[in-house]
Amino acid sequence: MPIYLDYNATTPPLPDVIDIVTRTMRDSWGNASSIHARGQHAKQILDAARQAVAALLACAPVEVVFTSGGTEADGLAVRGTLDALAASGRRHVVTTAIEHEAVLQTVRALGKRGVPHTIVPVDSQGRVNPADVTDALRDDTALVSVMLANNEIGTLQPIAEIAAAAHARGALVHTDAVQAAGKVALDVRALGVDLLSISAHKFGGPTGVGALYVRRGTPMHAQQTGGRQERSRRAGTEDVAGLAGLGVAAEHARVAALDTTHVRALRDALELGILTRVVGTHVNGAGGARVANTANIGFAGVDAEALLIALDLEGIAVSTGAACSSGTLEPSHVLRAMGLAAHDTQNALRFSLGAATTEAEIARVVDVVDAAVSRLRRVAESRSRNGKGRCG
Ligand SMILES: Cc1ncc(COP(=O)(O)O)c(C=O)c1O
Repeated sequence: MPIYLDYNATTPPLPDVIDIVTRTMRDSWGNASSIHARGQHAKQILDAARQAVAALLACAPVEVVFTSGGTEADGLAVRGTLDALAASGRRHVVTTAIEHEAVLQTVRALGKRGVPHTIVPVDSQGRVNPADVTDALRDDTALVSVMLANNEIGTLQPIAEIAAAAHARGALVHTDAVQAAGKVALDVRALGVDLLSISAHKFGGPTGVGALYVRRGTPMHAQQTGGRQERSRRAGTEDVAGLAGLGVAAEHARVAALDTTHVRALRDALELGILTRVVGTHVNGAGGARVANTANIGFAGVDAEALLIALDLEGIAVSTGAACSSGTLEPSHVLRAMGLAAHDTQNALRFSLGAATTEAEIARVVDVVDAAVSRLRRVAESRSRNGKGRCG
């Protein structure tokens, strides 16, 4: 049986999600902007999904803007607020070195167009120090964007503290909570943020749908212009079926976040198993608060891609860092930002567990990892004895 430990890349859609998406496509395919009964029925489905997302985030339904996923929500948060604040003279953005590319590349692209920005570092455990964010704030800071949970190592950031500091200087605050939804309880007021991104496929929903929480009164310009959908904050006919799936997944995520004991116990067992059985291993980012499902483990002297392929051949799906940069030999920008030595940024695998992960699967993964690492190290040793490099 294949073992899937790549839940941070995407999650299997929940059976209830598949049911409602299928049913909605078949029976409720109206355009939610149409005035006739079919359109109004679709609108009711959107309203229910919006309620469910609002319940997940502890916000009002009008504060939820549906998007095509986490990337769009992040981009809308950053570009939308900067556009809205441009006339006020606030243009500077503060973000961190371990953000997802959806934020980092957006900030870099804006930087090329002259938008000033500061990228705050993290410590060796991947934690952002709120004092560093405070130091980066300027009179013209428009937005501070710091992720809640990191996708590669799972570290949780002190968002409430960061938000308080940013607000004291008049800046808006966005958090990318794409990897936090369903893993920690979300409450936008307790976090103190103005904007927060989520993505359905990270918590049992369909791909291609997500949401941005926009606190009532937050200045934000639409980036996708056209019709008046989403109260003119995001134009385009809504994906009613996909959003119905987001709503159902949000209900599950709200409940799942309340008790992560099972997944945490399995993650801890995986780390303990690998650390005790396989020499030369360490957990990246274990020193800080983390989401319960993520283990990023370094294997000294082992090429992470080779180990990933060895595990894949045994039916075990894991990842090297961020999914969007896998397939390349680029070292992880997150591990680099944590100050890991160059070779340690290329020997780490991310194991991300989910609700369906079992004890038996973890036991098998530890066995397979142990055997695969021994084999790869033997090969590397005999190559170096024979004077052959990696490609020789
Ligand atoms: C932290 C984080 N932000 C944003 C995204 C992008 O979300 P989406 O895949 O919905 O575009 C991801 C996906 O990997 C993520 O992990």
